[in-house]
Amino acid sequence: MGYNGYMKDFDYLGEGEVYLDGACQSLRPRPVIDVVNQYYTEHNSCGERVKYKWGKITDEKVDATREKVLKFLGLKARKYTVSFTLNTTYGINLILSQLKADEFSKIMTSEIEHNSPFLASMTFAQRTGLPREVMERNDDGSINLNDYDFTKAVVVVNCASNFDGRKLLNIGELIKTVHKAGGIVIIDAAQAMAHSADVLRGVEPDAICFSAHKLYAPSLGVIVWRDELAEKMDVGFVGGGMVDDVELESYLLSSENKEHRYTRFESGLQAWGEIIGLGEALDWLDDVPKKDWNNLKQYSAELYDFLDSSPKVHIVNLEPNPTMSFYVEGLDSHLLGGALSRENIMARTGYFCVHYYLDHVLGLPPLIRFSLGLHNRESDIEKIKKVMRKII
Ligand SMILES: Cc1ncc(COP(=O)(O)O)c(C=O)c1O
Repeated sequence: MGYNGYMKDFDYLGEGEVYLDGACQSLRPRPVIDVVNQYYTEHNSCGERVKYKWGKITDEKVDATREKVLKFLGLKARKYTVSFTLNTTYGINLILSQLKADEFSKIMTSEIEHNSPFLASMTFAQRTGLPREVMERNDDGSINLNDYDFTKAVVVVNCASNFDGRKLLNIGELIKTVHKAGGIVIIDAAQAMAHSADVLRGVEPDAICFSAHKLYAPSLGVIVWRDELAEKMDVGFVGGGMVDDVELESYLLSSENKEHRYTRFESGLQAWGEIIGLGEALDWLDDVPKKDWNNLKQYSAELYDFLDSSPKVHIVNLEPNPTMSFYVEGLDSHLLGGALSRENIMARTGYFCVHYYLDHVLGLPPLIRFSLGLHNRESDIEKIKKVMRKII
């Protein structure tokens, strides 16, 4: 299947419809939708347990997706395992809820986090009684490592923000420092995977959680985890699909066998069609030509410059990024969102689940967020500018 050009792969977009909410959910390209349809119409079957031929096709494609995720991140199968979940939020909570408290001294997160790790770090602290520390992030997204003590810390941070796309530029250094201090690092890569995966490649955290639905793939969560992480965890979420044997009061986990380690986080029946769709999305992304990546960069810069040039517009971003948030002086962002919607421009308004930082640290009013994707075209940018000029 592969990439056929954005005009064909997003041909279902109606005339004049401008979708600017890729940071929440990417639009899915046709080949991904087709592969999911193919699963439902040609080999609808449960993975891992089924011996008839449809099951074998499903197994092959699911296994291939695990390999493609590792390849995309530049990680090795001898060190890392790929497990599927519901979304980033579920993955982070699943890990934190099972970590053994006595292995750690505290939990650390950062001020610019999405509620997903921000709240999960609170419940971790409540469950374990361990202290919680919220680190500051520099304007460029990095953390001043010398300001913190990482001894036996659980660190859970994003590597790209969902309101301005700023990246955790010193992620490699952070991981090395935390590991040296006996701690672990869980990376929220929800925003990084689609357009900023470069920040992640070649670094080796203890876990990476992301949402396939922000990566041009169907709704699905992924946990990529270092094998040693299992030693620091209890098993607290169990059921079908993850045991090899069960007696009256005990069970044998399939994840004890290296080959089936991924079952450690996969209790119950999985979203097989969606997993296969993720595999197709990764192939599709691999096929996207450089010129289309450059277009996305150029459209982001054009829109950023346009917003930046208006004295009434206050942008949170310090530099262009496909994800940009702002407010217009004297104009309620929700009303602005409504006005844009009437012109078929779909953008998000509010705090985008970053209430603590945007509302309570920066003291900003509700914002509007434009998040671009590979489906956007030059005519979208022209239309946004025209409509924004009219409204402002
Ligand atoms: C940085 C970041 N982390 C976590 C999440 C949560 O993702 P999900 O709702 O798919 O669990 C999001 C969603 O927007 C996000 O942008």
